[in-house]
Amino acid sequence: MKLSLFEKLRQRRRDKQNKKSQRKDYLLNEKTPFNITEAFRKLKASLSVSVPKTREGGVAVTVTSSYPEDGKTTVTANLALMFAMSNAKVVLVDADIRKGRVAKFFKKKSSPGLSDYLSGHASLEEILHTAKNDENLSFITCGTRSPKPYELLESEEMTKLIETLKQKFDYVVLDTPPILLVSDALAVAPKTDGTVLVCRHLLSYVSDIQKSVDTLQFAKANVLGLVVNDYHEQSGKKYGGYSSYYRYSQYAYGYGDDEPDGEENGGENAQEREASE
Ligand SMILES: Nc1ncnc2c1ncn2[C@@H]1O[C@H](COP(=O)(O)OP(=O)(O)O)[C@@H](O)[C@H]1O
Ligand SMILES: [Mg+2]
Repeated sequence: MKLSLFEKLRQRRRDKQNKKSQRKDYLLNEKTPFNITEAFRKLKASLSVSVPKTREGGVAVTVTSSYPEDGKTTVTANLALMFAMSNAKVVLVDADIRKGRVAKFFKKKSSPGLSDYLSGHASLEEILHTAKNDENLSFITCGTRSPKPYELLESEEMTKLIETLKQKFDYVVLDTPPILLVSDALAVAPKTDGTVLVCRHLLSYVSDIQKSVDTLQFAKANVLGLVVNDYHEQSGKKYGGYSSYYRYSQYAYGYGDDEPDGEENGGENAQEREASE
């Protein structure tokens, strides 16, 4: 894929930032530094206030960002975990049918999942799983690659699924693909109660964030706010305590070309492959 000068600069900056590190998926645990857990706790608290639960049912929140690698999946998975830890019943839905990675967090196969359900090839029981260590946390993986992810996500079945999940859970948290690369998130966001935009400190451009907000608002999504992921203190010390290496161009190319990333689709090997590239 040929990259523009703008994209080359972005890639160089990202490579520099992640030079010595390897790709590593990260879920909050007892060893997570206090300030990171606290940041997610604050995010959870802000969301609970911005889109409060009603008597009719739970709340659905879309998480998206401008570009790949901003931290959408990391933020979505940890946000879901945070809700579950506070005793809410939550379901994490991988609506990134092109390149979903939620299955990896739970060491599950990505199929059958959302796309299989939406295309009528799997039942809700078949795609809805409960996390091993937390019965408050359920998840739906992305499913088999489909030639028409946008159409599946835009469908009436998707609207009905979100409504059904809202009856069963307090929170429905949806992970989506990057908004400035593909339109899938625009099909999902207006069906949910609110949308959170993720950006990555020192990598995201204000103009891209603005463009994403405009695009979401044009699609009638309720934009709740911005999460600044991987924030660096002024001293240059990393806030996240971990980082990644994954080239922008490969990810962009991957949209629509790779199988979703679950155990049966490469899983840990795919992780190593990306890290060594
Ligand atoms: N705050 C952070 N600090 C360090 N690495 C991070 C941080 N957030 C995400 N990452 C890493 O960056 C990579 C991309 O994150 P991911 O959540 O998959 O992004 P996206 O879903 O937006 O493509 C992953 O390897 C993840 O572990
Ligand atoms: Mg992702």
